[in-house]
Amino acid sequence: MTSQATRARTPERPTPEPYIGEPFLHSHQPVRVLLIIGSTRQGRFGPVPSAWAVEQARMRDDVELEVIDLAELSLPMVLPGDDYAAPLPESVTEFARRIEAADAVVVVTPVYNRGYPASLKNAIDWVYDEWAATPVGFISYGGRTGGIEAVEQLRAVFVELNTMTIRKVLTFPNFWEHFTDHGVATNPDAMARAATGFYDQLTWWARALRTARNRST
Ligand SMILES: Cc1cc2nc3c(=O)[nH]c(=O)nc-3n(C[C@H](O)[C@H](O)[C@H](O)COP(=O)(O)O)c2cc1C
Repeated sequence: MTSQATRARTPERPTPEPYIGEPFLHSHQPVRVLLIIGSTRQGRFGPVPSAWAVEQARMRDDVELEVIDLAELSLPMVLPGDDYAAPLPESVTEFARRIEAADAVVVVTPVYNRGYPASLKNAIDWVYDEWAATPVGFISYGGRTGGIEAVEQLRAVFVELNTMTIRKVLTFPNFWEHFTDHGVATNPDAMARAATGFYDQLTWWARALRTARNRST
């Protein structure tokens, strides 16, 4: 048994080996990751850590990454009524299609008043079934806390959607210290190591859940 005290002193255990001994870990099919830029504010910082995360993913041959920028998608802010047969706006069907097609989602979030931005909640709520059995990873940024409050609130929301939020988070406290004015990483090696761990964990879950989803259909 590992107590919490032991755990604090020992190095982190690697992500568990596949518990069903199946070949999904060795699948050569890349993991389709959808990265969502969650802030839509004018002059926002969000595209900077997003571009860095995209670049990190593109260095891997086990990830195929696409980006959705909520500022460009312009989802309506008013949710529909209870008539499920009513047509949905094209931006919504497009968003739902891309969530469904993804093996994993990365949410890039700032912290606004100790929470996550309304633009993200609106987007999350437009889609339901398509989220199920999808691993979700977070990249956050903000002042002293790096936006971890936003991440913990998002975890609670994503439970309801039957997603699997991964433990590793890429967090940028005092975000202006991590990137130059031109968006270049100020500590590229350490940041790249963190990104590797993050994508390793995300892709592990993505393969596991892809296998599970394929089996249940
Ligand atoms: C409405 C609002 C509330 C904010 N609240 C917090 C906060 O509670 N904690 C914090 O560290 N930073 C806070 N900030 C600072 C943001 O983290 C910072 O402005 C960041 O750049 C916002 O992301 P964005 O530029 O992509 O919109 C807040 C910013 C805004 C616009």
